[in-house]
Amino acid sequence: MAKKIAKRSWAEPFKIKVVEPIKMTTIENREKAIKNAGYNTFLLKSEDVYIDLLTDSGTNAMSDRQWSGMMIGDEAYAGSKNFYYLWKNIKKYYGMPYFVPTHQGRAAEHMISQILIKEGDYVPGNMYFTTTKLHQELAGGTFVDVIIDEAHDTASEHSFKGNIDLKKLKDLIKKVSAKKIAYVSMAGPVNMAGGQPFSMANLKAVQKLCKENKIKLWFDATRAVENAYFIKVRERGYAKKSIAEILKEMMSYFEGMWVSAKKDLMVNIGGIFATRNKKVFEAVRNMVVVYEGLHTYGGLAGRDMEAMAVGIEEMVEYDNIRARIGQIEYFGHQLDKYSVPYIKPIGGHAIFLDAKKILSHISQDNFPAQTLASEIYIDSGVRGMERGIVSAGRNSKTGKHNYPKLELVRLTFPRRVYTQAHIDVAVESIASVYQNRRKIKGLKMIYEPEYLRFFQGRFEKL
Ligand code: F0G
Repeated sequence: MAKKIAKRSWAEPFKIKVVEPIKMTTIENREKAIKNAGYNTFLLKSEDVYIDLLTDSGTNAMSDRQWSGMMIGDEAYAGSKNFYYLWKNIKKYYGMPYFVPTHQGRAAEHMISQILIKEGDYVPGNMYFTTTKLHQELAGGTFVDVIIDEAHDTASEHSFKGNIDLKKLKDLIKKVSAKKIAYVSMAGPVNMAGGQPFSMANLKAVQKLCKENKIKLWFDATRAVENAYFIKVRERGYAKKSIAEILKEMMSYFEGMWVSAKKDLMVNIGGIFATRNKKVFEAVRNMVVVYEGLHTYGGLAGRDMEAMAVGIEEMVEYDNIRARIGQIEYFGHQLDKYSVPYIKPIGGHAIFLDAKKILSHISQDNFPAQTLASEIYIDSGVRGMERGIVSAGRNSKTGKHNYPKLELVRLTFPRRVYTQAHIDVAVESIASVYQNRRKIKGLKMIYEPEYLRFFQGRFEKL
């Protein structure tokens, strides 16, 4: 008997016009390549990678409108028309009146940290992000994690694991006083927690608490559109609102933001600093000329700013963001068929495999997530990244490893790049590594750089 139609599928709201060939490598090639890369997927040559799920940062496919926009780049040193178009869209979609472009997100993080943080200050936030926290520390601040406990629990299915725990924030204010808090650093969805969003209700409550205590509230809006999508589908009262409306409401609670445009905006390079505080804007505008370039290009070409401006218009299209998150959901549901443990609920930009559970026989000192990422690469040429003890670095005071509760391998989806068939290949490889997990041994670190060691650290098989 013919199968009855149980559901109707969705598909990507685009078709493919240009293709970039990739090659399948042999297991012998890959064993050699990962050994030469010190068992660090960041050190692999991209040529040796089959399906690249290292990051969604700058790896996106631009639309025909974005590419044609690049041809009308106005490469004047000062005041290019692309800058003004981008500024107009930042006001329109993010609702922030003042804007300075930067070459990528961490450049904006650097400036805002130097301007708002004084030696000895505290910066509470909903879990750390590697570059964000490092800039806060380099400016003399101490990052304090005030995310809800559920965020550290891979089994919790809380819909908004990115929420701030108001009690933790209140306790910190009581302990160190509001004056010692440079600002609250909120991100959403929270990258290191598994792409988990915060709710609008939580954001409103955080803003109220900050206002009562005269504390500034700043936003890492790098993947804010994904957060807006989760609010639309998971939070009561938002189902009928557009992504653009939700984004604008979210932004209204913050004093300012920084963005790595290499994500939501679907470009290959770019960053944004924007605020409603004129004084802070002026300080950033002064500083940007030292580190990035004139305040109307901030280290970017005119054509890059044009692609960003178009990207902002495309990122708020419902079909676009639904297909984006839909791919990650599909990936997760396929992994479920093989019972591979990963962080739930399924997040915004990636699937985070639970390496602590998968390689429970490997101690954290032997880097289970680093090991798992290299084993998956060896199996199929699928490249993911470690988000565990290597990423967490060392305590800046004691010099000891930070031991994070989460030991994860992140498999991140570039926007508009891979098809469902690529996902199937990746899933089967991960399932195969999972089924043979008992044979896998850990790693030892043989080279450790001073900053952000996950990028360039080297390892050897035990
Ligand atoms: N904030 C978040 C939440 C990020 O995910 C990133 C980058 C940055 C800031 C820094 O921006 O790379 O443009 O300087 N995340 C990338 C990733 C690298 O793979 O998650 P950047």
